[in-house]
Amino acid sequence: ALTTETQRPRVLVTRAVFPDIVTQLARVAEVEATPDDAIHTPAQLRLRLRGKHGAFITNSERIDAQLLDACPDLRVVSTMTVGVDHIDLAACAARGVVVTHTPDVLTETTADFGMALLLAAARQMGDAERYLRAGQWRKWRYDLFAGSDVHGTTLGVVGMGRIGQAIARRAALGFNMRVLYHNRSRLAAGIEQDCRAAYRTLDELLAQSQHVLLALPYSPAARHLIGARELALMPPGSTLVNIARGGVVDEAALADALRRGHLGAAGLDVFEGEPAINPVLLDAPRVVLTPHIASASIPTRRAMVQLAVDNLIAVLQGRSAITPISA
Ligand code: DGY
Repeated sequence: ALTTETQRPRVLVTRAVFPDIVTQLARVAEVEATPDDAIHTPAQLRLRLRGKHGAFITNSERIDAQLLDACPDLRVVSTMTVGVDHIDLAACAARGVVVTHTPDVLTETTADFGMALLLAAARQMGDAERYLRAGQWRKWRYDLFAGSDVHGTTLGVVGMGRIGQAIARRAALGFNMRVLYHNRSRLAAGIEQDCRAAYRTLDELLAQSQHVLLALPYSPAARHLIGARELALMPPGSTLVNIARGGVVDEAALADALRRGHLGAAGLDVFEGEPAINPVLLDAPRVVLTPHIASASIPTRRAMVQLAVDNLIAVLQGRSAITPISA
């Protein structure tokens, strides 16, 4: 147990998320909520987290060594995300702070969205909808927003974790696509077979895929993994979809490739400076932009919050976390 019997652990919930689920924390802890759903500045977060034993966070909060040093009582950080690039895992490990995240519960919903973004981008649904809403549609035309096909083409998946695999299965089984993948390590033959996916180096994948989908975890080593050189390797007219983290793509190079017509389309759910969007992307043609919503179905977001709450309760009660992540 983290505290004496008379002293209940204290928990900060940094955002206003599904109050009916978060209220379960009150069974085991004194909960400080954030009813107005304001985003904390680092200084505000430091202030509110001081003296707390647990934190329920989202990807809007950055947990770094400086913050941890200001909050020495902190024992567990539970993020309602699968990605943990907003948390310094090594700094947490060095201070004995348990970090938990929410894998698995969002895999299928996120994979659905990956396919939706690929289809929307390749078929120019963003530009087409804006055109219609702007009252520009005068007549049916044979080439009006005629994009590229998705079915029967080659999809390259970069990052073949749970989400990448779920996308590969959809692409192969549902859209009759040939699937190539690139990953830090090659998958076991059984998983490759299950996903009907063949391993390639990144350069080979880029050169051989009509559509490339990024689903890898972010790390500083992955920053601008897809830059001007990589985009040039992609066949003319191909599509890039990013549901990983914005920093994986050099956004200026991407906008340039779209403007020059080398890239056929792009679908982006994540941005390097989000929620700020690089204006070059707003001006670029044939790009569908969404506000980091790949896992945003109600059932999945509820499952993410529930898992994050369950993780917090487990650790605060001295049990093992359900889905911990280690440095
Ligand atoms: C995740 O779970 O990592 C999503 O990107 C939301 O942050």
